[in-house]
Amino acid sequence: MIKKQRLMGRRVFLFSLGTLASLAAVATGNKLRHLNNSLQALDNEERDFTVIGEATLRDRAAAKKLIYGAASDYRYLSIAPQFAASFAQECGMLVPENDLKWKTLRPTPESFNFTQGDWLAKFAFDHNMLFRGHTLVWHEALPPWFKDTVNSQNALGILLKHIETVVGHYAGKIHSWDVVNEVILPKDGRSDGLRNTPWLQLLGPDYIDIAFRAAAKADPQALLIYNDYGLDYDTPEHEAKRVAVLNLLKRLKSMGTPIHAFGMQAHLQGHETRFNPKKLKAFLQEVANLGLKILITEMDVTDQKLPLDAKVRDRIIAGAYEDYLSAVLDEPAVIAVLTWGLSDRYTWLSEFKSRGDKAPIRTLPLDEQLKRKLAWNAIARAFDKASEREV
Ligand code: G3I
Repeated sequence: MIKKQRLMGRRVFLFSLGTLASLAAVATGNKLRHLNNSLQALDNEERDFTVIGEATLRDRAAAKKLIYGAASDYRYLSIAPQFAASFAQECGMLVPENDLKWKTLRPTPESFNFTQGDWLAKFAFDHNMLFRGHTLVWHEALPPWFKDTVNSQNALGILLKHIETVVGHYAGKIHSWDVVNEVILPKDGRSDGLRNTPWLQLLGPDYIDIAFRAAAKADPQALLIYNDYGLDYDTPEHEAKRVAVLNLLKRLKSMGTPIHAFGMQAHLQGHETRFNPKKLKAFLQEVANLGLKILITEMDVTDQKLPLDAKVRDRIIAGAYEDYLSAVLDEPAVIAVLTWGLSDRYTWLSEFKSRGDKAPIRTLPLDEQLKRKLAWNAIARAFDKASEREV
């Protein structure tokens, strides 16, 4: 009897396993069909990305009193002369991707390493480019010694020493600083929407105002920026973050914090269909109404969930760049656009958002051989269509 029951039990178990597997297959199939349908909607083979002339992105932006730049690091610019030449041609601004973060600048609690940062500052100066700093206060890229050394007694002194030393070191050479980076995370559940970072735990919410005041004292000429991501699309998560970021900016302005601009990172998703230009422009207008300038600080478009076909990927990615930039450049307070890298040869996405098929990423204006792609055309077209900025 028991054997029969066991047999029955096994059959029921296998049947339900089979049912679950087929339900999962249906769900996956539906998801793939949905993705394929939306990708077909995103890919318009007839879309025109024609650009007039050969002028560089740097010159097209400058013609409208805008700035175009990109992120790079010493480890790329110092070893690849052709890449460095393309960078100096196409970019009017350089922002270190990693070389001005704590992990690079602070080998020990007592010391500073400005070697890479100084090399990049000189590269920018030698090529008549603007130089921007990223980033003074962040919960990532902290040096290994941080968690065992910094505590609630010494945190304020360590933070002030860092900002005074680093901002002082580059004073007069920096266009702008990302003073504070990515401190909003509504899902951490705080009423002020703040991310539960080590700095918040150590110093409380005032660390943000403290950081801006220290930076303003160390370099009164630099534009001081709050920088964040995940604000681009018409989704509940991005909407909640836009509300929380706006509330932070309003709080800082009401406290008299010396904040001058907002950095919108714009790490976009090539497969995302929920882009609503009206909502995005409304958010940017509310930021501008606080008297803040706006920089698009880290733009790229991941192709992780796009088809393998490079022609399809390039069209969809170019469309995302042009649609987004056409919307944001309608806001007169937007003064600069930087991509998070210039060439697909050096993109963080290869490591952090690689494709399942391991195909090389095609996210940035230049391909791995430094040739201009449709993404380059899209950005050029957006600058050509933009209105001239009031300086
Ligand atoms: O340089 C070391 C190398 O010596 C070591 O062998 C290697 C071991 O993994 O690590 C290397 O450091 C890496 C560094 O990039 C330079 O490649 C770090 O592990 C890695 O975490 C770091 O990732 C950077 C990430 O920020 C974290 O700092 C990415 O390159 C960078 O693109 C990314 O940029 C961030 C912005 O700062 C803020 N906004 C989001 C953006 C994307 O995450």
